[in-house]
Amino acid sequence: MKVNGRNIRPIWLDDSLKIVKVIDQRRLPHEFVIADLRTVDDVIDAIQKMYVRGAPLIGVTAAYGVYLAALGSVGGNIENGYLIKEGERLKAARPTAVNLSWAVDTVLSEIVKRESRDEKVDIACKEAERIAETEAERCCRIGENGAELIEKISLRKKGRPVNILTHCNAGWLACIEYGTATAPIYAAFQNGIDIHVWVDETRPLNQGARLTAWEMLHQGVKHTIITDNTAGHLMQHRMVDMVIVGSDRTTRNGDVANKIGTYLVALAAKDNGIPFYVALPSSSFDWTIKDGINEIPIEERDPDEVKYVQGLNDGRIRSVLVPSADSPAANFAFDVTPARLVTAFITERGICPATEAGIRNLFPDKGSSGFEQLDFYR
Ligand code: MRU
Repeated sequence: MKVNGRNIRPIWLDDSLKIVKVIDQRRLPHEFVIADLRTVDDVIDAIQKMYVRGAPLIGVTAAYGVYLAALGSVGGNIENGYLIKEGERLKAARPTAVNLSWAVDTVLSEIVKRESRDEKVDIACKEAERIAETEAERCCRIGENGAELIEKISLRKKGRPVNILTHCNAGWLACIEYGTATAPIYAAFQNGIDIHVWVDETRPLNQGARLTAWEMLHQGVKHTIITDNTAGHLMQHRMVDMVIVGSDRTTRNGDVANKIGTYLVALAAKDNGIPFYVALPSSSFDWTIKDGINEIPIEERDPDEVKYVQGLNDGRIRSVLVPSADSPAANFAFDVTPARLVTAFITERGICPATEAGIRNLFPDKGSSGFEQLDFYR
């Protein structure tokens, strides 16, 4: 997507093919800094500290991590056992987004079949690049499919602005291009639809206020940042026409893990009869589980992220302590929205009801036993 007229992605491989470049999203919107990842440890650090974040981007970054593991190994041969161990370390970096293990396993499944070191390195690089392109393509399709929903509302409203509420950042920064929740917004906006986006600030790390709002600014989409507890009020006053959010992991019957607070937005939407859509690529489905509340691992992060707020002061990014230093805090990073609160999924293959049958209808090729490529673990 464009930033100040220049096309950029949140991740790319530099020309030497030895360094993975990422936008350091912790510093946005006040500083635009590119970080270099050269080793598996760098990749794990960038995922854990959230230089990179958002389910599809975490997956792509970890895929490059497997490539860096192969590249960094010494000697004429690379043991598959070593690569699988490095893959396990990458998968443990953050627990909730399923894209992470999907991407690592996808690259591993290709490289363990190759014999020589050069072949393994070459195929790991190609696979990581392929995953990045595939995710970008999926987001493009999500945009086309979801734009139709926005256009229908616009027609019903006779061209008056369509008010869309979104939570966290499920934009191009979280993916590779277009985003998931934002892809339909960008596509409909390109088609000339009058759109206004309510951006939940998304405490504690403010991905909405810092990242989604920044994206909207650069794409020229009208938007307003609101505190996380404003959604219900806006909905009661018919100031929201639809909600679109992303997902970090969706079970095969449609329970959705997404950024903490998503569940409360879904409840308010249900109570007010407002459609609540989840936009996600197939890489965010976990085909192996059914019960989101009990089976999806929910990341708990450092309580200091709740206690301190970061922002610009005197031209520098600073952190300030909000409560008494001695007050304890808890930092659950995600919650699960049960399928019954989801109006429909917007995927690269089309739109489907949030039911096991609806999902299976769009993805008949995805078995409940998981991925064929997991064979190499046996
Ligand atoms: O903790 P984060 O910033 O990685 O959480 C991101 C989200 O919850 C997004 O909504 C989700 O990954 C969907 S991204 C397209």
